[in-house]
Amino acid sequence: MKLVVANWKMHKTRAEAAEYARDLGASIGDGIAGRELVLAPSFTALAQARDTRGRWTIACQNVAAETEGAYTGEVSAVQAREAGCAYAIVGHSERRRLFGEDGALLARKLARCREAGLTPIYCLGETLAERDGGETEAVLSRQVETLDEHPAALPLVVAYEPVWAIGTGRAAEPSDFRTACVGLRRLLAGRSALRVLYGGSVTPENAGPLAAEPSVDGFLVGGASLSAVAFAAIARA
Ligand code: PGA
Repeated sequence: MKLVVANWKMHKTRAEAAEYARDLGASIGDGIAGRELVLAPSFTALAQARDTRGRWTIACQNVAAETEGAYTGEVSAVQAREAGCAYAIVGHSERRRLFGEDGALLARKLARCREAGLTPIYCLGETLAERDGGETEAVLSRQVETLDEHPAALPLVVAYEPVWAIGTGRAAEPSDFRTACVGLRRLLAGRSALRVLYGGSVTPENAGPLAAEPSVDGFLVGGASLSAVAFAAIARA
């Protein structure tokens, strides 16, 4: 079963999310065989993005590192779970870069997901400078260490998203991400419920060739997922 996740980032009002859900439902009918679909809207639009028929589930894009308390502006993993989320995106490169999230903080977020019963979609990937410097493997091994406390038997999704491919229109070639994804599987060997996604400029046009690559179990899609029709086309690819 391929997993295809729409990361809307900070886009869509509740009205727009409801319209998207209608369009996606119309586009996929009874669902797409062999595909698990997940929508990750903003917290405000979780209810509108849900599917009462269960053809897709919902994810939050972030969770607090703390359980509860005086943390103005934060949303806890338990709150996200109660709001219907099955998954939580943790460690997206935008959170790492723009909000200074590091491995220690992300390990706490993963722990909160575990306690709340949310499956993490843990994002990692190297920057262009790291890639050019031949540091990709070292960067990925360091980012994987954050998962040390995550029990091997629990479901885990890891999204390999090279930073240079996110939102740039320059998707990695399978030959670019094969080595990284195979390496990640080796680093995470022994985990019974691991899925490895690729993310970074996935579009309806390139999804077919990318999906043919056996080292990935699906996609994390940003920009192209903002259209229900495009997202459905990617999922079908
Ligand atoms: P993109 O974003 O598809 O717009 O490159 C991917 C992501 O940030 O998850």
